[in-house]
Amino acid sequence: MAKSISVIAIILALSAIRSTSKTLTERDLETEESLKNLFEKWVAHHGLEGDLDDKAERFSVFKHNVKYIHEFNKHGHSYDLGLNQFGEMTNEDFRNMYAGGKIDRRRIRGRFINKNILKSDISLPPYVNWIEKGAVNPIKNQKSCNCSGIFSAIASVESILFIRNVTKTLLSLSEQELVDCGLFSYGCDEGSVKGAFLDILTMGGLTTESAYPYTGQQGICQYNIPVAKIDGFENVAPNNETELTIAVYNQPVIEGIFNTSCGFNPTHAVTVVGYCATYGICNYWIVRNSWGEHWGEGGYIKMQRGFSDPRGLCGINMEPYYPTKMPFPATSSIDDSYANE
Ligand SMILES: *[C@@H]1O[C@H](CO)[C@@H](O)[C@H](O)[C@H]1NC(C)=O
Ligand SMILES: *[C@@H]1O[C@H](CO)[C@@H](O)[C@H](O)[C@H]1NC(C)=O
Ligand SMILES: *[C@@H]1O[C@H](CO)[C@@H](O)[C@H](O)[C@H]1NC(C)=O
Ligand SMILES: *[C@@H]1O[C@H](CO)[C@@H](O)[C@H](O)[C@H]1NC(C)=O
Repeated sequence: MAKSISVIAIILALSAIRSTSKTLTERDLETEESLKNLFEKWVAHHGLEGDLDDKAERFSVFKHNVKYIHEFNKHGHSYDLGLNQFGEMTNEDFRNMYAGGKIDRRRIRGRFINKNILKSDISLPPYVNWIEKGAVNPIKNQKSCNCSGIFSAIASVESILFIRNVTKTLLSLSEQELVDCGLFSYGCDEGSVKGAFLDILTMGGLTTESAYPYTGQQGICQYNIPVAKIDGFENVAPNNETELTIAVYNQPVIEGIFNTSCGFNPTHAVTVVGYCATYGICNYWIVRNSWGEHWGEGGYIKMQRGFSDPRGLCGINMEPYYPTKMPFPATSSIDDSYANE
């Protein structure tokens, strides 16, 4: 349960608040002594908060964070991370503070709401299949890690970047990075969809599957340059099949569904990558799972549409989500530097 002490709190602090107070130099990091000096100065300036037992442990967290910041800055980002009041917080501290509402969640939600695009005056085609459009990666396997939310969220991100022409080819992105480094998705303990999106936003994006391959176990977070970013995420109006159909027409959408029994208490997340709705001939959702290719029909399952209950079969209409992404070239300035290739 306890996550390894790592350094993402600093990124969060930066992206949520953007307060910086000290630029790090190589010299600051040179020796244990110089790090200790930096720590003492920092403590004097900010005072000690958080609930770590002793100063030695605080110092070790501080060192991690400082090295992370320095590493991050060396890679030439459009802004520098700086040491701020979060310099000695662990992920756990930061999460508690965040969960306590001291930071406005809306500030790290997407800046771009594309609901208007989604609802433009379209007449929906009877058949949509994002697999056939080359917008869906081969089936993945989450193995024994309980993180279907991470897999389904990432699948939807891979697709939207391709659909919006942000990436010329369909990228495969790293679930393991979220498992190891995510603060809000709770890795193999839960892997929540909303948490996964929050993590992608606060980490500044994801790296690729090949750069950070899947192990299926909680590991130590490794620094990676983000290559894939989203603008935000939104939910589809709950319990409304028309809304869900419009959303799936636009892009693959994440659903929570049953796991052991098909009730209305979703414990597993999947991605809806299409539908067939030619009344009298077919009426189903095309659902992508993350349990390998040997599950269902090559990893997919068709689920009934037009179910009598507005919550949908197995609660599929209850709480759908999708990531948002501006078409490239984006009109925003911060996020698009990575998107050229
Ligand atoms: C993406 O590129 C394709 C092919 O060049 C084009 O048909 C499509 O309209 C583009 N989509 C967006 C969102 O720009
Ligand atoms: C897996 O995570 C879900 C939430 O995403 C939770 O409801 C479920 O109880 C978890 N299962 C196990 C076996 O921990
Ligand atoms: C479902 O969404 C459609 C399309 O936005 C809307 O016209 C309809 O009133 C909604 N139905 C319910 C029950 O809210
Ligand atoms: C429920 O989910 C867990 C973890 O995601 C998986 O290992 C298990 O096989 C699932 N149960 C069923 C009946 O599919």
